[in-house]
Amino acid sequence: MELSGCSDPHLHVHHVQAGGSRQALGLAFASGLAATMTITHLLKSGDQIICMDDVYGGTNRYFRRVASEFGLKISFVDCSKIKLLEEAITPETKLVWIETPTNPRLKMIDIEACAHTVHKHGDIILVVDNTFMSAYFQRPLALGADICMYSATKYMNGHSDVVMGLVSVNSESLHDKLRFLQNSIGAVPSPFDCYLCNRGLKTLQVRMQKHFENGMAVAQFLESHPLVEKVIYPDFIPGLPSHPQHELAKRQCTGCPGMITFYIKGVLQHAEAFLKNLKLFTLAESLGGYESLAELPAIMTHASVPKDHRDALGISDTLIRLSVGLEDKEDLLGDLDQALKEAHRPNAR
Ligand SMILES: Cc1ncc(COP(=O)(O)O)c(C=O)c1O
Repeated sequence: MELSGCSDPHLHVHHVQAGGSRQALGLAFASGLAATMTITHLLKSGDQIICMDDVYGGTNRYFRRVASEFGLKISFVDCSKIKLLEEAITPETKLVWIETPTNPRLKMIDIEACAHTVHKHGDIILVVDNTFMSAYFQRPLALGADICMYSATKYMNGHSDVVMGLVSVNSESLHDKLRFLQNSIGAVPSPFDCYLCNRGLKTLQVRMQKHFENGMAVAQFLESHPLVEKVIYPDFIPGLPSHPQHELAKRQCTGCPGMITFYIKGVLQHAEAFLKNLKLFTLAESLGGYESLAELPAIMTHASVPKDHRDALGISDTLIRLSVGLEDKEDLLGDLDQALKEAHRPNAR
């Protein structure tokens, strides 16, 4: 993948889809949310958006509190259950938005099955937010999606020094519509950010392989830790298929990034003490960079999601999200171990 035309604010992104030689057409945006907003402008008042119920909190907030003010109807549906998606589709449905794996519960959604269901009903656009997997591990367009979008702020750039969004499509007419909207709205990235993101993309392969290796080691370590209640990781380890959608993960993606969600034993205070005692992991909301980050979605990334919605999704006060970086594996495990023990030390909180 290559961003080109840095002196032109209307950038072209070209990449070849896995499993075929077809060229995808792309656009780079000022941020992931700028890409989301521009895609949403493809709709008109009265249209319905079906959005996966477990998505990035900012996507949820944008649809619920901004797009809905412009007459768009928003339904949040668990699209990992195709039957629920099918039942939610109405003649007004014009866009289905999924993220897989979801954030932060790491639920996998079958992109091919979604595309099949959505396209049976005419010209509904299926968008896949591919931020977590990156273009390296998952190719939504090759699986039937109409639009693949990224917050390139995360893995695609990978150096935590750029805010950018990317969109790729297979259809020239969709590309032209998005390009027109982008030009009209002004959701363009800066030339310098394009330069930095191009630099980041050059190491996507080696970075993603290392995120995968470290993520797997951390997931295995946490799974066997006595102070951990439960680990969610769509792992590919043959002997450890603990994720309920392990088979789908194997079919749909070629690896896993460093995103791990786990429940620490105890209550909110244990989760807070764990985060406070981490030395190598930084407490921060972002993800996908070279450095390891940890956060508490209930009071950070997903604080804007209504509490009853969070409860229904299992985003409890003890759910911790890790973005495992590129550091030495042993250092990462050592840091997690000491912070877990410290959080549970009597009188430590
Ligand atoms: C999955 C996902 N999609 C979209 C976004 C929004 O991207 P940006 O921060 O680049 O606007 C984020 C940001 O955290 C994200 O995690």
